[in-house]
Amino acid sequence: MGNRLIGYGSYLPERVVANQDFEKIMDTSDEWIVTRTGMRERHFARDDETVVDMATIAAQRALDNAGLTIDDIDLVIVANVSAELDFPSVGCQVLGRLGAKNNAPAFDVRGACTGFIYALHCARGFFTSGMHRRIMLIGAEKMSRFIDYNDRSTAVLFGDGAGALIFEHSTSSYSGIIDTVIMSDGTEFDMLHGSPDHHIMMNGPETYKKAVQLMPDAANYIMEHAGITADNVDWIIPHQANLRIIQSCAQRLEFPLEKILVTVDKHANTSGASGVLALAYAFDNDIIKRGQLILYPAFGSGLTWGAALIRV
Ligand SMILES: CC(C)(COP(=O)(O)OP(=O)(O)OC[C@H]1O[C@@H](n2cnc3c(N)ncnc32)[C@H](O)[C@@H]1OP(=O)(O)O)[C@@H](O)C(=O)NCCC(=O)NCCS
Repeated sequence: MGNRLIGYGSYLPERVVANQDFEKIMDTSDEWIVTRTGMRERHFARDDETVVDMATIAAQRALDNAGLTIDDIDLVIVANVSAELDFPSVGCQVLGRLGAKNNAPAFDVRGACTGFIYALHCARGFFTSGMHRRIMLIGAEKMSRFIDYNDRSTAVLFGDGAGALIFEHSTSSYSGIIDTVIMSDGTEFDMLHGSPDHHIMMNGPETYKKAVQLMPDAANYIMEHAGITADNVDWIIPHQANLRIIQSCAQRLEFPLEKILVTVDKHANTSGASGVLALAYAFDNDIIKRGQLILYPAFGSGLTWGAALIRV
């Protein structure tokens, strides 16, 4: 049993924060941020704008794109680590906001920056088993909630936003979510984690080293598993954490840079929303065409890592 992508939507908060805005409040520079990360700007939600607000807008846009209403969806999975409320899930709250009446289930996955791959993996399993027929996946994060403005090494790296994809059951195994792999290593959890006072704690250089090793490993693993090579892949959408990490992954995969989608300059690192926001950006700007094969590797806190192959 296969599946196919039938709708997408995204939302970025109105407020754009440029590198120069950080220059005014901490000892940093546009030059340092661009050279070390490739980031130029990011979107920050308003104080009163929540993860659920952003997720709901992205979800409604995906429904409109697919020509569906929320009652046509039979499962919602949300990748996020930054929800304001510990419970209920963002998924249930989104269903409530959209007025769902069909009692469809919803749950969140907390795979951090690999969260959307974890969500894709769950969806693939549900389609393969035939347990669900139309699934909405949302990645939604308000990472600006966690920023410690006294820590310049993490404050400049993150952004907010939400994206949603809708997949439906199909008899073709060559479309939609074709393959996924997810992994974790909890012994390395202290490399990158949240603190009890809601700040990001990160060993940047060690995280960097892991990212440039594990993302290409996951990409190679999934290509081998699916029986394809890099020549069969139209685009790589890597998790958008750092331009240098992305370039290094491209090099290790011997994949041409012009086929690597980069949005880290515009969105910074939006954690679980990063890949879906990048894909939505590529659709909106006619960069990625329907039918193309996307390889999406990611890496994040946990440690977690993984990859997905999606024919869009
Ligand atoms: C965070 C990161 C950009 C830092 O780049 P780096 O080249 O490793 O820099 P370092 O941490 O070694 O710091 C180098 C210097 O820059 C300084 N620095 C750190 N942040 C700075 C900032 N925003 N502005 C100016 N200087 C800064 C450091 O204090 C250090 O100064 P020192 O040499 O005087 O001590 C990089 O390590 C990285 O991207 N890591 C991975 C992060 C990531 O992907 N996280 C999410 C995973 S999902």
